[in-house]
Amino acid sequence: MTEEIKKGLAGVVVDTTAVSKVVQETNSLTYRGYPVQELAANCSFEEVAYLIWNSELPTKAQLEEFQARERGQRGIDDKLVQLILDLPKDCHPMHVVQTAVSYLGAVDPDADVEGEEANLAKAERLYAQLPTIVAIDHRRRHGLDPVAPTKDLGYAANFFKMVFDEVPDEAVVRCFDISMILYAEHSFNASTFTTRVITSTTADLYSAVAGGVGALKGPLHGGANEAVMAMLEEVGTADKASAWIDDALAKKAKIMGFGHRVYKNGDSRVPTMRKAFENMVEAKGATDLLDLYNAFEEDFVGRKGIYPNLDYPSGPAYHLMGFDTDQFTPIFVMARITGWTAHIMEQQANNALIRPLSAYDGHEQREVPADRG
Ligand code: CMC
Repeated sequence: MTEEIKKGLAGVVVDTTAVSKVVQETNSLTYRGYPVQELAANCSFEEVAYLIWNSELPTKAQLEEFQARERGQRGIDDKLVQLILDLPKDCHPMHVVQTAVSYLGAVDPDADVEGEEANLAKAERLYAQLPTIVAIDHRRRHGLDPVAPTKDLGYAANFFKMVFDEVPDEAVVRCFDISMILYAEHSFNASTFTTRVITSTTADLYSAVAGGVGALKGPLHGGANEAVMAMLEEVGTADKASAWIDDALAKKAKIMGFGHRVYKNGDSRVPTMRKAFENMVEAKGATDLLDLYNAFEEDFVGRKGIYPNLDYPSGPAYHLMGFDTDQFTPIFVMARITGWTAHIMEQQANNALIRPLSAYDGHEQREVPADRG
């Protein structure tokens, strides 16, 4: 075998993108040139979604038009509501999201229409409807009827209303909005790359997004935010963190919410999300969870020099917001739909079929035996 194999495509530059830039050396992440921390401090998720798709932050008038379009498309048809209600109550919510995305593709007569205008319309519709899908799924698992979306509330507040039938304090809504900004985009991560691979075959946007949902589900990627919370719950209290880590490392387990393929000295999004998590701790008086979070982080980083990624603070922050643990990754989808679809449009605008090579290490060529008895 003479080919050099880059397992996991580690370090391989596959294509260019103008959507976001990750700089490993400086731990920085920019969306369309703006540092993500500054976007989180100064913008709403709606503004960032607009930026990701349109390359520029919206003016006041552009934002109002964009918000009106989003608010006008939040409702989903009765057949989709029924489809969600009919799925097994104990299936993973990411399967519900994936099924719903496929359904929306199946009923869209323009599903196969290519081009930026058609795709932007589909992207905006998915962005508007995913929160409704996730909220209905949450409520049915609790034996509750859906709460209809309302045009009177912003994106994040409307989502809380649809899930819990009430809108929490502005501080809580803002923490959620910040998490959505931080989760919106991250260059050629596994799920985004999946959407680009599917798009490269000239398949439609819904097929690409459904594939992205599948890739995001895994705990090495988006599923880590759920796995972090499950892990913290299993550990229990700060004084048990060290012994739990001893045991996990002895079993060679990966510690969820730590490590990153690109950032080796810390994830640029963590300080902002950690602050949002601390705000949630203050709002809910959850100092025990913060103590556990800090003790676990200090112990693991001290031993391994492997730093937390965004899923470490976001998992417990969503927990304190009241979301069920298995809904955390669907919430990630609600944010990443912006980045995925921007990449889908970019791929389509300058497409080359993504089809790498493999180095064969199986049997030598052989003949099919006539007698196989
Ligand atoms: N726990 C224990 N050991 C780890 C971890 C971890 N979380 N992360 C890396 N390592 C070790 C790894 O075992 C390897 O050790 P050795 O050299 O002895 O074999 C070394 O560090 C290098 O790691 P790697 O596996 O080469 O790193 P990678 O770039 O392939 O993996 C990762 C990146 C994210 C898959 C990995 O760090 C991981 O599994 N983390 C836990 C899951 C997680 O939090 N995923 C979320 C990722 S970021 C946000 C997102 O996508 O949602």
